[in-house]
Amino acid sequence: MTSKTVAELLSQEGALQDVSIKGWVRTFRANRFIALNDGSTINNIQCVVDFENFDEALLKRVTTGAAIHVTGELVESQGKGQSVEIAVKALEVLGDSDPETYPIQPKKHSFEFLRENAHLRTRTNTFSAVMRLRSSLSFAVHKYFNENGFNYMHTPIITGSDAEGAGEMFKVTSLDAKNPPLKEDGTVNYKEDFFGKETNLTVSGQLEAETYAMSLGKVYTFGPTFRAENSNTTRHLAEFWMIEPEVAFMDLAGNMDLAEDFMKSVLSYVLENNKEDLEFLDNRLQKEEEKLPQAQRSDMSLIEKIKFVVDNNFKRVSYTEAIDILRNCKPNKKKKFNYIIEEWGADLQSEHERFLVEKHFKCPVILFDYPANIKAFYMRLNEPDAEGRETVRAMDILFPGIGEMVGGSQREERLDVLKEKMKALDIDEKELWWYLDLRKYGTAVHSGFGLGFERLVMFATGMGNIRDVIPYPRTPQNAEF
Ligand code: 4AD
Repeated sequence: MTSKTVAELLSQEGALQDVSIKGWVRTFRANRFIALNDGSTINNIQCVVDFENFDEALLKRVTTGAAIHVTGELVESQGKGQSVEIAVKALEVLGDSDPETYPIQPKKHSFEFLRENAHLRTRTNTFSAVMRLRSSLSFAVHKYFNENGFNYMHTPIITGSDAEGAGEMFKVTSLDAKNPPLKEDGTVNYKEDFFGKETNLTVSGQLEAETYAMSLGKVYTFGPTFRAENSNTTRHLAEFWMIEPEVAFMDLAGNMDLAEDFMKSVLSYVLENNKEDLEFLDNRLQKEEEKLPQAQRSDMSLIEKIKFVVDNNFKRVSYTEAIDILRNCKPNKKKKFNYIIEEWGADLQSEHERFLVEKHFKCPVILFDYPANIKAFYMRLNEPDAEGRETVRAMDILFPGIGEMVGGSQREERLDVLKEKMKALDIDEKELWWYLDLRKYGTAVHSGFGLGFERLVMFATGMGNIRDVIPYPRTPQNAEF
């Protein structure tokens, strides 16, 4: 008896005696056809039951959601829609499901409803496809870096420095919230806390990754990051996974090349290895779009969009050029943007980023050389431009339908410039003594970036809400499961 997965059986050529399979019932039609899924593929295997040979009471227990074990013969299918099916010889119900209360009925459910049932939503085609793609993309990330000589570094989740400036942080403490130890001035005495200082959940592994890049050369982190921003949008999570490569002796141009090559590589990987799931999600999206007015439909299908990114160069545009485009564009002149771009120095909002990628360039865009005062302290300062304006060697990669996917920079490697910047921003040197040490001992040009993994999964699956591409989303007022 060979125990196989549905994926293995469906790719089987020719009949097979004595197959054994376990999975969950999707539907049971006409007391004869069981559609069985085990998560190995988007497709179900049809199991055909000759009901006269089975106990009626047993067949009654074959309901949507039940876990069953089927043994039988794999034969060429008589019906349409599948090439093979199982002629069932023996059937065992491993776990019953109550058809009255089982939330995942064989009908269309809204994503909101499925979010409330996130523990069972991967029993639907859409979510099983999304999560298989997520898994595949994760593998492709490690594969890319491994094949390109990077070391995988585990940066700490709990951090004692809050100087990154990437966002609000979640405090980590073991003090009694109702009765914390106090200092003489009435503020909390963190010296008595678990770590003897204030600690938080990390917002990025970058600063620690820099330390390893400056010894191991090429490193990357891929782990959870936490931001306590109250951003209730379809693109923000309070807990998300970030991929952060960091490379010694690499400048901003090299950083752009790396990011572009990396993204093309992982997207090619899923085009090659997740065809069925992508085709399913592509069809789903096309059906959704048919409901929209013509003008709102996109001119490319999901797979075409992914291929487009893989096959075309990203457009590289300086912040200064982007501001010129935005200042003179129709929505700005007609005051259609919520934030009107008037002057160089303005921070770009997502409406501007989307205009640039979706309307103007119609492809992924790498924006670089941003004004120094809207970016983080650690970014490499450029020489002032002809008009005396200060920029830093930063880059953001913007994607159609998503907006910002990547944020990165060449890092400031000059001790004096870095210290000056920290002073201006009131960042305590004592807190980042180890970070400054990198500039004291063998400093060198180095660069890296951070890619929000869920945003990549959104792009690759065509899902419109970031809550639907992570198993259990953490967002303001929500940490169920
Ligand atoms: O641009 P960010 O804040 O960059 C950093 O944290 C740098 N330290 C990275 C580095 O250079 N190593 O974040 C990087 C990316 C963003 O481009 C976005 O894709 C994602 O992380 N991101 C989020 N994704 C989901 N939810 C949020 N709240 C996110 N905030 C950032």
